[in-house]
Amino acid sequence: MKISIIYYSMTGHSKKMANAISKELNVSSENIKTNPKLEDVDLLYIISGIYGDKSSPVLIEYVKELTKRNAKKAALITSSGSGTTKPIEVREILENNGIMVLKDEFLYSGGFMFFGGHPNKKDIMNATNFVRETLKTL
Ligand SMILES: Cc1cc2nc3c(=O)[nH]c(=O)nc-3n(C[C@H](O)[C@H](O)[C@H](O)COP(=O)(O)O)c2cc1C
Repeated sequence: MKISIIYYSMTGHSKKMANAISKELNVSSENIKTNPKLEDVDLLYIISGIYGDKSSPVLIEYVKELTKRNAKKAALITSSGSGTTKPIEVREILENNGIMVLKDEFLYSGGFMFFGGHPNKKDIMNATNFVRETLKTL
């Protein structure tokens, strides 16, 4: 089973979360800004934030290029100030490209900039539990 972790992070929260998930799965995480090449991935974790109610255009442009040859399934881990905003466009694009996006996604409050200290231990513990659940779908 091949697992990959990619992230887009403007202010560091998603990077910290990606590092934590990376340790949990013993798989390195890659920054979307480096345009990581994916091949035959069984489960792809996409970790990102929300900016102006949306996913970053960098992430949007990246996922537009993905097909099921790159990844069969994807799981979404997203932070926002509200803690409830979903990366709707990312899901739509992936599904239109034939990639199965797990119905369950993990949302957490990232606060804003450096306020709030997120992701904190609890955020990481909850995300780790989510990841363990997603592995059962393989
Ligand atoms: C420029 C900017 C715009 C943001 N816009 C929103 C927003 O519209 N709604 C929201 O809930 N959070 C918003 N946030 C909060 C981020 O989604 C949150 O801090 C997230 O954890 C950032 O992840 P990152 O540190 O990985 O970039 C914004 C943050 C920044 C820096």
